[in-house]
Amino acid sequence: MKSVKLFVPATIGNVGPGFDVLGLAFEGLGNTYRLSLCEGKSRVDSVEGIDFDRVPTDPRKNLSLLAADYVAKHYRKSYHFALEIEEGLPIGGGLGSSAAACLAGAYGAMLLLGEEVSEKLLFKIGLKLEGHLDNIAPAYCGGLAIAVEGKALRVLSEFSPWIALVTPKVRVQTKKARALLPENLPQAEWTRQMALSCALVCSWQQNDAEGIRLALQDPYAESRRSKLIPGFDQIKQSALNTGALGCSISGAGPTIFALFEKQQDAEQFAGNHQGHVGQVAKEGIRVC
Ligand code: HSE
Repeated sequence: MKSVKLFVPATIGNVGPGFDVLGLAFEGLGNTYRLSLCEGKSRVDSVEGIDFDRVPTDPRKNLSLLAADYVAKHYRKSYHFALEIEEGLPIGGGLGSSAAACLAGAYGAMLLLGEEVSEKLLFKIGLKLEGHLDNIAPAYCGGLAIAVEGKALRVLSEFSPWIALVTPKVRVQTKKARALLPENLPQAEWTRQMALSCALVCSWQQNDAEGIRLALQDPYAESRRSKLIPGFDQIKQSALNTGALGCSISGAGPTIFALFEKQQDAEQFAGNHQGHVGQVAKEGIRVC
């Protein structure tokens, strides 16, 4: 049976100010998928790992199979897919598990069908299934990425902070977390948010830690969503006290991320909160 095994790294959506626009790939955590061509209908053969019992196995609800079937239909090929999943990412944890699932299904199907990988189609499917690309962009190209006009731009930079992730033991539905946010903002507020996002990208590109310290703030979503995350304020304060350049909610949460210049500080903070430490994933989705 023709098959392909793929790894997709964890991704931090928004990265502070960049709501639905900025995403950062994290090395060390991720999901592994084996996608195979099969006879009969598309199906999930196995799911292992964290939150394995929360992954939809109904092919009409499983994002990887929906994405793979979309690709087959797009190329007018009547293939079906079997899927094995090893989940390293929590579902509803704010680390891009749905983006990883969509991307793996679509990318894997393109490889299995012998088609050239089409970024345009990957992002079209991502937008259709997810609604925003801030996780899919870095999951595809690695590093810090900008989702813009249905495309992903990778921010070319050698900046390599230590990243600590802390995932409190609650799960947050993205839909619920989005419902807490106003659809419109007064001009002064969106101007500030935009200035912070631009400053974050510029500082990232220039290896400017002090610029990151200034820009890594999220006036739009953080205070509105942090009520869904028990202990958020204390954990953030603890990150800042330990020397973090900044700390905010990863995607819709509940995972909290903090960036550090020193590995030792990141490890001390993560150790105090049962977190993970890693660096920026230089590559996105890859065959393994
Ligand atoms: N950017 C989206 C949000 C989530 O904050 O709602 C990405 O997972």
